[in-house]
Amino acid sequence: MTTVEERPHTGFGRTLRKEDVRLVRGKGNYVDDVRLPGMLHGALLRSPYAHAKINSIDTSAAEAHPKVLAVITGETLKGLGLAWMPTLSYDVQAVLATDKVRYQGQEVAFVIAEDHYSARDAVELIEVDYEPLPVVADAKKAMDADAPVIRDDKEGQTNNHIFDWESGDQAETDAVFANAEVVVAEDILYPRVHPAPLETCGSVADMDPVTGKLTLYTTSQAPHAHRTVYALVAGLPEHKIRVIAPDIGGGFGNKVGIYPGYVMSIVGSIVTGKPVKWVEDRAEHLMSTAFARDYHMRGEIAATKDGKILGLRVKVLADHGAFNATAQPTKFPAGFFHVFTGSYDLQAAHCTVTGVYTNKAPGGVAYACSFRITEAVYLVERMVDVLAYELKADPAELRMKNLIQPEQFPYTTKTGWEYDSGDYPKALQLAMDMAGYDELRKEQAEKRERGELMGIGVAFFTEAVGAGPRKHMDILGLGMADGAELRIHPTGKAVLRISVKTQGQGHETTFAQIVGNELGLPTADIDVVHGDTDQTPFGLGTYGSRSTPVSGAATALVARKIRDKARIVASAMLEVSPDDLEWEGNRWQVKGDPEQGKTIQEIAMAAHSSLELPEGVEGHLDATTVYNPPNLTYPFGAYICVVDVDKGTGGVKVRRFIAVDDCGVRINPMIVEGQVHGGLADGVGMALMQVIAFDEEGNHLGASFMDYLLPTSLECPSWELGETVTPSPHHPIGAKGVGESATVGSPCAVVNAVLDAIKPYGVRHADMPLTPAAVWGAMNGRPIRT
Ligand code: CDP
Repeated sequence: MTTVEERPHTGFGRTLRKEDVRLVRGKGNYVDDVRLPGMLHGALLRSPYAHAKINSIDTSAAEAHPKVLAVITGETLKGLGLAWMPTLSYDVQAVLATDKVRYQGQEVAFVIAEDHYSARDAVELIEVDYEPLPVVADAKKAMDADAPVIRDDKEGQTNNHIFDWESGDQAETDAVFANAEVVVAEDILYPRVHPAPLETCGSVADMDPVTGKLTLYTTSQAPHAHRTVYALVAGLPEHKIRVIAPDIGGGFGNKVGIYPGYVMSIVGSIVTGKPVKWVEDRAEHLMSTAFARDYHMRGEIAATKDGKILGLRVKVLADHGAFNATAQPTKFPAGFFHVFTGSYDLQAAHCTVTGVYTNKAPGGVAYACSFRITEAVYLVERMVDVLAYELKADPAELRMKNLIQPEQFPYTTKTGWEYDSGDYPKALQLAMDMAGYDELRKEQAEKRERGELMGIGVAFFTEAVGAGPRKHMDILGLGMADGAELRIHPTGKAVLRISVKTQGQGHETTFAQIVGNELGLPTADIDVVHGDTDQTPFGLGTYGSRSTPVSGAATALVARKIRDKARIVASAMLEVSPDDLEWEGNRWQVKGDPEQGKTIQEIAMAAHSSLELPEGVEGHLDATTVYNPPNLTYPFGAYICVVDVDKGTGGVKVRRFIAVDDCGVRINPMIVEGQVHGGLADGVGMALMQVIAFDEEGNHLGASFMDYLLPTSLECPSWELGETVTPSPHHPIGAKGVGESATVGSPCAVVNAVLDAIKPYGVRHADMPLTPAAVWGAMNGRPIRT
């Protein structure tokens, strides 16, 4: 049971979330709550075809609708040079289609009306003459000689190839495989899924015709990056754009990219001179915004007969949809897939990734993970279980034998990444102890005797979170560093301005706690401002669990700057040298004479008073900083899942889930646990019930929550959480990110458990989602391949 300390609270520990005072009372302010005087409403016409030429668009009936003010098509935008926009991966994406549509649900026209319902009605009045074209719905067929070229808009593009990327040493890896006693291969799919935040995407654009200033209220995880992109694309002066991301109802990577609807609300406001709101519905959201994963992977693992893992070789075919709009640092077309070597000490590793276009929505976002790490972890953790299957080894023992040892940190992987710190065996042992692993195996053996199907799934993961460093990582040329500004008011109350943006994960509390920890101020006395480009310093935003590793570090450092300045002020107040002062709790005091001291609140008042300060010391108590992380942080965890499978139906019941996480120093353990709970539920969803599927014509088969299922408390067990704490050596407070760890680590634990349950049927692998039909099919020799 979570216990919460009484306020006033300073520093780290369990304390209630400040933001919940408004959020749980229904006083949150989301984009759809924004209502401006004279506001109009926009709606998008979307393509019913996955691939079709547009012969003509007739908007006359829609324009004649009495409540319609304007209908905008791709042709209108073409005249303004706005028909195409850059994606986060240096491709271009149609804002509104001009030549042809390339996926079902693509944006074709935008109607602006006096109210939302009229806009929707008028969308139905637009007549488009489509000429259907052959469709590429299967990534494996994208490079066939007779496959239609989807991106014929791009000069020189003669097929559906996007990129080839590799990592590791091929020759070294091939040599290890050639000499290995055991080599096992498996085809593993991480299906297309969707982050599916409960709040869909939307924006309200308000272009002031008098001042020429655009204010955009929008569902954005990265308001500063969005502002810069709008400035570059539309040629608007950056200081004349204010992006406000108000309360956000979940992001999970889905609100990192810029969608045509956002751009159209801006165009709509410029055209009409009035504020224009655009908010998509659930079906639009699931069909057109940012899918995740869609990695077709072939893994090979080399080992000795007694289970020492020697090498990994991986080939990936990545389905990027019709526009390459994946969100990751520029140099990394396959994100951080480099960590496919997982948590193991290998001799060699090599992987190649090929990206292709298909007639599906663009995206490839880092859905609650740091850029393709979920795919990488799933691959390696499945491969270790596949090896265990072949060697008839216990999966936990096999992992224990191969984990990187504590004394090997900092550990450089075979793909050149430096894991900062960890004690992996300790975390796995704790998970096994909490689970009662040996007892569970005994219970399983007894049940197997009786013909009952019980499975125990083990997974170990290492994440790489906190992008930058800026010299290696940028998005569209913007380096991945983050600013922080801290001001202490005369009365000792504080305002912290940060560049990252909370989507519900509690920054207003934890970032105040970081300041509280450094300065001894009560958390309640620190206001955290975020999500407004006019109010906060520049930075690249929140995704990939980067808030704490990057912006959290900036916050600790800016508070330390204040503490240093406070020391000078205190020395003037006490008429002693700064060197004679020491920091204690919330005050500077004279060394050896603790009675002589000044609290941070007293110092703040003095800093704003007529007190004579030393030469060169400005008054007031404020500071700014920009933090460029020296390395990523590497949180890790050991997960064990216990399932029961119904022999007759293939139905899976997740009975227990033990999760031991290590995210270094925990700022607020209650919030960390909440983050882990959410991620574990995500994993159950992906493992057992979720896929964004298409038929051969490219028709989307699950554009509602009736088909795309979200796990509820009925599908989730009561999570059993444990922790180890291995601080990050390079982070100012030793913290690592945690927001996405559980989403990364849990799908493979659940899948490994289900496959362990049906092992008596000779099943080594089956792809997610392991629906009852998929499990039953695997048990009965009729595997379902999505
Ligand atoms: O970038 P994002 O906010 O999604 O992820 P994060 O940095 O992992 O933080 C998620 C939440 O957990 C934030 O409120 C953090 O401040 C909090 N957290 C924490 O209390 N202790 C940690 N070691 C890591 C995160």
